[in-house]
Amino acid sequence: MLVRLDKWLSEKSSLTRSEAKDALKKGRVLVNGEPSKDPSLKLNTEKDEVVLDGHSLLYEEHVYFVLNKPAGYVTSTSDSDGINVMSLLKGEVIKNLFPVGRLDKDTEGLLLITDDGELSHRLLSPKKHVNKTYYVECQSPISDSELGSLKNGVDIGDDTPTKPAEVARVDDKTIKLTITEGRYHQVKRMLEAVDNKVTYLKRLSFGNLILDELNVNLGEYIKLGASQIEELKRS
Ligand code: URA
Repeated sequence: MLVRLDKWLSEKSSLTRSEAKDALKKGRVLVNGEPSKDPSLKLNTEKDEVVLDGHSLLYEEHVYFVLNKPAGYVTSTSDSDGINVMSLLKGEVIKNLFPVGRLDKDTEGLLLITDDGELSHRLLSPKKHVNKTYYVECQSPISDSELGSLKNGVDIGDDTPTKPAEVARVDDKTIKLTITEGRYHQVKRMLEAVDNKVTYLKRLSFGNLILDELNVNLGEYIKLGASQIEELKRS
């Protein structure tokens, strides 16, 4: 792929476009070992090597992080509603990153963060039925018939009932619930529909990404590698 050098620099570093132009002018950028001052230079991102201030900038079209979200952080890119999850990505260039979907402030668990708008759109599309599994602790014991209702679909006050879900009992007040939709507060509203209340909620998986397999501690994140990204794209 061919891209303008200044554009690419501003995407791959913390520099703005005009700072990138300035860095070029000051000779801080080497392309294939030679200083380059031309912001309009067309880079071949597959083979040209760019070094900024002595650090090589490897080409990646997009980046993908999995955060194990702790409670108390809002899933947004601004701080207007509280401390946002993006503040946990310390040291990353976050200007083009966004969380894929939402987790409530008090929900923990797997949150994908990327700059890949196309994949995000696909993963969130109701037509794609991407599985999301939640570990759900409830205030009251859940009967087998309530479990059956959650499985078949419940009325949560929307135009249509929830789509069939997978439900596995962990103990009398705890279940693992796999849904394919992503309606607002869906899990909490599903439990309310069977006269219960969620007391603790954690997302265990999203598509082919499984939190336990990724070894990410609460409040920490990992950057996905090529094979994990392929796996995600197959979700
Ligand atoms: N369903 C909810 O109710 N809350 C979440 O954070 C995620 C799913």
